[in-house]
Amino acid sequence: MRSSLFGAAAAAVLSFVGLTAAADAEEWKTRSVYQVMIDRFARTDGSTDHECEYFRFCGGTWRGLINKLDYIQDMGFTAIQISPIVKNIDEHTAVGDAYHGYWSLDNYALNPKFGTEKDFRDLVDEVHKRGMLLMVDVVVNNMAQAFDNKVPPKIDYSKFNPFNDQKYFHDYCNVTRWEDPENYQNCWLYPYGVALADLKTESDEVVKEFQNWIKQLVANYSIDGLRIDAAKHVNDEFLPQFVEASGVFAWGEVLTGVTNDLCRYQTKGLLPGMPNYLEYYPLLQAFNGGSMEEVAKYRNEAASGCNDTSVLGSFIENHDMPRFAMYNEDMAIAKNAMTYTFLNDGIPTVYQGQEQHFKGNGTPYNREPLWISKYDKSAPLYQLTSTLNKVRNNAIKLSKDYVNTPAETLFNDVNHLCLRKGPYGSQVVFCINNQSSKGPKYELNISGGFHPGDKVVEVTRCRHTTADATGTITMYMGNGEPRVYVHADAIKGTGICSDTKEDGPVGNAASGVGSTAGIMIAALASWAVFFFA
Ligand SMILES: *[C@@H]1O[C@H](CO)[C@@H](O)[C@H](O)[C@H]1NC(C)=O
Ligand SMILES: *[C@@H]1O[C@H](CO)[C@@H](O)[C@H](O)[C@H]1NC(C)=O
Ligand SMILES: *[C@@H]1O[C@H](CO)[C@@H](O)[C@H](O)[C@H]1NC(C)=O
Ligand SMILES: *[C@@H]1O[C@H](CO)[C@@H](O)[C@H](O)[C@H]1NC(C)=O
Ligand SMILES: *[C@@H]1O[C@H](CO)[C@@H](O)[C@H](O)[C@H]1NC(C)=O
Repeated sequence: MRSSLFGAAAAAVLSFVGLTAAADAEEWKTRSVYQVMIDRFARTDGSTDHECEYFRFCGGTWRGLINKLDYIQDMGFTAIQISPIVKNIDEHTAVGDAYHGYWSLDNYALNPKFGTEKDFRDLVDEVHKRGMLLMVDVVVNNMAQAFDNKVPPKIDYSKFNPFNDQKYFHDYCNVTRWEDPENYQNCWLYPYGVALADLKTESDEVVKEFQNWIKQLVANYSIDGLRIDAAKHVNDEFLPQFVEASGVFAWGEVLTGVTNDLCRYQTKGLLPGMPNYLEYYPLLQAFNGGSMEEVAKYRNEAASGCNDTSVLGSFIENHDMPRFAMYNEDMAIAKNAMTYTFLNDGIPTVYQGQEQHFKGNGTPYNREPLWISKYDKSAPLYQLTSTLNKVRNNAIKLSKDYVNTPAETLFNDVNHLCLRKGPYGSQVVFCINNQSSKGPKYELNISGGFHPGDKVVEVTRCRHTTADATGTITMYMGNGEPRVYVHADAIKGTGICSDTKEDGPVGNAASGVGSTAGIMIAALASWAVFFFA
């Protein structure tokens, strides 16, 4: 039994590496992903004054998302990742309701809380009509049932569809050893308020059933990609077989900052991609007392440890982590973090509300309903995201090698990281820094990205300049803002900085009057919206 299972897994690994995933992954590499939690994105009527109790359902729907697709597309995103779609438990538990969608009860029914089957089909159609891809979050580690905190949990297995018998599940034990795969893959997660009945994903029956299910789900609804929740908590062999059966690109959640623990999923062919937790931690640190040298170090670790960083999800926020602004509200550092996630190697992923500089703490406070922002398209991070998406989408259009050309370090010290990504012509040269909006004004001379005499444009300020006789460009730094340069010719006719001025020091009359004051007011305003909602 064991050896035949392993044989099947090995065969699945081989075919997956050789054929199916390659084309899909190539397509996903060229995309940028906006992550939506359906209950918290938009209500069907689009109202923005609805009070939200964070542990309960707040009323977001698939129809609400359809009606607000412009908000996402106008920011330049080419894919949307949505929270799970299947029917969940209805109970109020000690840890809240299943508003997030991760507490599966019936894998064969759509979640009626988010709309009808027609609503969901319309959503897929509308997303596709706009040339965007849809990624759906799926749960394979467990099914869920409310419980009274008396262990072992009393589960009525007959309520689950399709896993309606105890034989499909591991015997109860509580995960206690977070470093021991045997323990965290076979025991039950978080046994408080809700029992996450742990599926025996190493059993042939469970594997086959999941393969049938995901094949149908993808085909029935024309889904383009998957996020596999808690991938680290199922056995290795399960994953490639599941991905293979789905026939689409998938990334799996592997929450670890340890290089080999993350990268082995790629090097062993278990998953095509993962959200890049390896760079998440040092990036966050660099803006909270850490150093940009650590960011560069982990960038190199990811590049040498993983097979292909271009399919890792590049992010600084998601629905599981406290918001970036929870740690530090400074707008300039948020812009630097956003710039890095877009222009580094990988698939840029933005979690709804990041573009509105939300600052909620851990779950569920990091799941603010987006409507408290009034979907403000003039918000500074919304505007920056739009620019970065346009620049990246344009580079990809200009060169099919852009995504596959690893970014190269041009300059790095404790405060700065300057990279160049893409082949000559389509390349983007950018510097992020961690000095915050109190950062000094200075010149930074950077070479390695351009040729002597090249005309270039800095796209966050729409300034033009010329590379000197050695190909060096002088970056005018100030207020801790990031800088992003492209060839002037590369953006002609694209709508990116159609009107530019001669570059010069920050703070000149020409360079955006009172920009620091503007940033402060914006930060205060978003704080007020959050606080009084
Ligand atoms: C399960 O283990 C966690 C530590 O991983 C502990 O905090 C929790 O109290 C335990 N719960 C039960 C029900 O044993
Ligand atoms: C897919 O559609 C078929 C035909 O309507 C249905 O029988 C099946 O249950 C669906 N499967 C899933 C996973 O939605
Ligand atoms: C990843 O890279 C290693 C080392 O180059 C190679 O042996 C392995 O086959 C690759 N795996 C995949 C899934 O591409
Ligand atoms: C930026 O890096 C320096 C040097 O490591 C550090 O002292 C400083 O606290 C960092 N800035 C922020 C905002 O964390
Ligand atoms: C940057 O380069 C310019 C032009 O070559 C030069 O005038 C300037 O002094 C340099 N600035 C710094 C800080 O090195």
